[in-house]
Amino acid sequence: MSAPLLDVRGISKRFGGVHAVRDLSFRLERGEILALLGPNGAGKTTAFNMIAGFFRPDGGEILFQGRNVARLRPWDVCKAGIARTFQLSKPFADLTVVENLMVGGFARSSDAGAIRDRAEEIADFLGLGRQADTEVQHLTAFDRRKLELGRALSTEPVLLLMDEVVAGATPAEGQEMVALVRRIRDRGITILIVEHVMKVIMALSERVIVMESGRLIANGAPRDVVNQPEVLKAYFGEQYAAGRA
Ligand SMILES: Nc1ncnc2c1ncn2[C@@H]1O[C@H](COP(=O)(O)OP(=O)(O)O)[C@@H](O)[C@H]1O
Ligand SMILES: [Mg+2]
Repeated sequence: MSAPLLDVRGISKRFGGVHAVRDLSFRLERGEILALLGPNGAGKTTAFNMIAGFFRPDGGEILFQGRNVARLRPWDVCKAGIARTFQLSKPFADLTVVENLMVGGFARSSDAGAIRDRAEEIADFLGLGRQADTEVQHLTAFDRRKLELGRALSTEPVLLLMDEVVAGATPAEGQEMVALVRRIRDRGITILIVEHVMKVIMALSERVIVMESGRLIANGAPRDVVNQPEVLKAYFGEQYAAGRA
């Protein structure tokens, strides 16, 4: 059996008295779209921040393509092939769409012409071709969200971490985002996605993992996982879960 693309082994993170992530382990196979679920405060973003090198785990290992990246800086994690989107995107508002999409390209190359060509290709891929030369401050909220994805893609990742990219979108925008995520996977990029909208998860993922209070509480097919008592309890409380049992 080949090794998983990502092998998270027992990572933990504390902030003062808050144990945000506790001994978290999971694997991600190449080509998979894995959804990470869990109520607010479960530790999902903290887990992302550790995988992307923004937080150093207090303990544990993060093996990516067989190499422990847990102690690398964000820039080096990016060079290793991991990119992330931010829950609150912070693009360069007075730069154009293409200029924003060029920034990440410098992680891979210093050839500005080639980087611009690739930025234009990503803008087209996202359906932002017509806004290529528009300053980002004039984009709609949804187009900014797509740009946020594009900024991650511009670093040419092997693994893409997406943090709540559908939150706040209309149903039609949600569907467009689902189609876009599938097309990103079809480009050969493996995806770990934090998402709350169950319809989106069902449409995208064959496997989900669930966190609660920093721990992994479930791992399996979406349909099985959402009926597990621990998961119902985490989302809806003890009484609801007992009533369903
Ligand atoms: N930078 C930080 N400093 C202090 N506490 C934090 C920080 N980031 C997250 N936390 C705390 O860690 C816990 C998990 O947060 P987070 O990872 O953002 O959860 P989620 O993304 O699942 O909503 C929460 O209790 C949160 O308040
Ligand atoms: Mg979060």
